[in-house]
Amino acid sequence: MCGIVGVVSNKDVNQKLLNGLANLEYRGYDSVGMCFIYNKNFRIKKGVGKLEEVHKKVNFLKFPGNIGIAHCRWSTHGGVTEKNAHPHVDCTNKISVVHNGIIENYSELKVELMKKGHKFNSETDTEVIAHLIEENLKGHKIEDSIKLALKKIEGSYALGILFADEPEKLIAARNESPLIIGIGDNENFIASDVPSILDYTKKIVYLEDREMAVLTKDKVSIFDLDGNLKNKIINIIKWDAAAAQKSGYRHFMLKEIYEQPRAIADTLNERIRNNNVVFEKEFALTNEFLKKIKRIIIVACGTSWHASLVGEFMLEELAKIPVEVEYASEFRYRHPILDKDTLIIAVSQSGETADTIAALKEAKNYGVKTLSICNVMGSSITRISDGVIYTRAGPEIGVASTKAFTTQLAVMYLFTILLSKLKKTLNDKQIKDMIDGIRKIPLQLQSVLDEDGEILKCAELYHQKLNSIYLGRGVNFPIALEGALKLKEVSYIHAEGYPAAEMKHGPIALIDKNMPVVLIAPHDIYTYKKVLGNIEEVKARGGIIIAIATEGDKEIPKKAKHTIFIPKTLYTLSSILAVVPLQLLAYHIADKLGRDIDKPRSLAKTVTVE
Ligand code: G6P
Repeated sequence: MCGIVGVVSNKDVNQKLLNGLANLEYRGYDSVGMCFIYNKNFRIKKGVGKLEEVHKKVNFLKFPGNIGIAHCRWSTHGGVTEKNAHPHVDCTNKISVVHNGIIENYSELKVELMKKGHKFNSETDTEVIAHLIEENLKGHKIEDSIKLALKKIEGSYALGILFADEPEKLIAARNESPLIIGIGDNENFIASDVPSILDYTKKIVYLEDREMAVLTKDKVSIFDLDGNLKNKIINIIKWDAAAAQKSGYRHFMLKEIYEQPRAIADTLNERIRNNNVVFEKEFALTNEFLKKIKRIIIVACGTSWHASLVGEFMLEELAKIPVEVEYASEFRYRHPILDKDTLIIAVSQSGETADTIAALKEAKNYGVKTLSICNVMGSSITRISDGVIYTRAGPEIGVASTKAFTTQLAVMYLFTILLSKLKKTLNDKQIKDMIDGIRKIPLQLQSVLDEDGEILKCAELYHQKLNSIYLGRGVNFPIALEGALKLKEVSYIHAEGYPAAEMKHGPIALIDKNMPVVLIAPHDIYTYKKVLGNIEEVKARGGIIIAIATEGDKEIPKKAKHTIFIPKTLYTLSSILAVVPLQLLAYHIADKLGRDIDKPRSLAKTVTVE
C-alpha cells in the first residue's frame, strides 16, 4: 500500500520527511527510503526494515536539502530488498520516483525500455516510470515528459517525482491511489494522507485521478494530463495533530479502543434532534428518494465488511428493507442486478480502499444512487459517492480497526432510525427507545472498558493457545467474526468466527480442553436461550469458555470459565458493547506475545491495491 511524503521548502526538509513517514508507516513497513536534492545532485538513502531501524543506520537527519521525497513500502512487485526500496531512479540518476500503487503494464514497458538500452536496478514496477520519463525527456520538458509517461502507464499510482536539474520543483500525480497536497508557509507538501502533514499545515487540496501537480515552495499548480490548468478548492482540516499521537498509551490500538466513548459521542453529536435523526448537508439523499428505496447493497472490505453485516441486521430487522452485503472485491467483478430503487452503501474507514472504490464506480456505471459511510473527510470514496455520512472517530492509526468499527455501527444505527421513520416501520415510542438506547452507549462503553482486568487475566492465561473459536448469533454473529479477525491481525493466532449454532457443522470437532471459545451471549429475547445451549455443547467437550454476557446474568457465570459483563441495552446495540472486550482481548494477547501491535506483519491500514 505504501506511504509517500514530499516537501519543497525554503529550509531543510529532512525532519519533516521523517515525521511524515513516521505517521505514514501504518501503510507499509518493510523498507523505507528518502531522496534529497543538494547542489543539483540526488542523495538517496534507503534500507530494509522499519523506519526506526533504517533511520538508526543511515540517520536521515544528516542530509540537508530544501526538497525531498520519502517512501515507506508494502511490497507488491519484487521482494523486500534495499534495491527494491523506493525511491527509484533512471539511468542518468536525474529522475527520482516514489510510488504507491501498481503499474499493470510494467512488464511490457520494461521490455520496450530495455530494448532501447535502459538498465534496470530493481524488480519493481515503479522503476519503469523513471525510465519512461527519461526516455521522453529526449524531446520534451520535464512536465511534458511526465505527462507522456503517465499516458502510457496503466494501473494505479500516487507519485512523487524529483528532477535533479530542477531542484526547486516537486511533481506529483495520482490515479486511483490517494495523494493530497498540503499548502504551507514558504513550503508545500505532498502526502498519502492528511495526518502525516497535520503538524505543518491544515490547508489541503485533494488531487483527483489523472491529475498532476507541480509544487514549488510558494506555488502549487494542478493540471490534467492534457495540460489544462485545474481550479482546486483548498480544504481546511479540523483534525487536531495531537489526535494522531499516542497520548501516553503504549500503542495506538489501545488508545483507539479507549477513545470509543468519545468517538461514539462525537458521531452522535447534533445528529439527534427531537427524536429525529438529522445528517449534515453531505448526506445529500432526499427523503423522497429514501422512502422509495426497495433494496440496499452494502459493499466493504475487512472490518468495515463486518460493520456492514451488523448494518444489514439493523436495517432488515427495523427498517424492513432487504439488504445484501458484498465483499467489494467480489462485487466489482460481478454483473450486479441493480435498479433505480436500489441504494448502494460503501463502508470504509479510510475511504481509499481500492476494491471499495472500484465497487462504487461499478455501481455508478449502473446509474444507481450511492452513499458512503466513511471516516476520512475528502477521501476518494466520499468524493465518488452521491452522499456521505461521516463517522467521527478521528484519525485511526492502529492497523487493526477499532473505533472506526464502533462508529460505523453507530452510523448504521442512526441511518436505520432515519429509514424506519421514513418508511413508518417503527412507531414514535419505538424510535424514542432506540434514540434513548444509543444516547447511553458512550457511558456504557466506559463501563465495558472498566472490565479490562478480567480480560487481561484471560490474556495471561491463554496467550499461548494456538487456536480459538468465536461464536455469536444474530446481530452478534458479525461481532464473532470481528473478534476473531482482531485476534488474527494482531496476535497471529488462528481464530475462527462462526454463528453459534453452525458450530455443530464442523468447528465443534476442534473443541477440546485446549480450545478457548469466546461466546457472545447478551441477554435478549431472540437467541439467548439457544446460546446457553451452545455453551453447554462447548462445555461438554472441555472447551475453555469466555463469555460476554449482560450485567446481572446469573446463568452464564455458572457455565463459563470467565464472564465479561456488558451493560443492558437494546439487542441491536449490544453489538457495539460486545465488540470492545474482544478488541481488548486481542490487544492483550498480542501484547503478551510481544507482537508489533500497531504494525502487524504483512498488513497495511489502507489497502490501495487490488
Ligand atoms: C485493511 C485494514 C483493515 C480494514 C480494511 C478495510 O485490511 O487493515 O483494518 O478494515 O483494510 O479498510 P477501509 O479503510 O476500507 O475500512
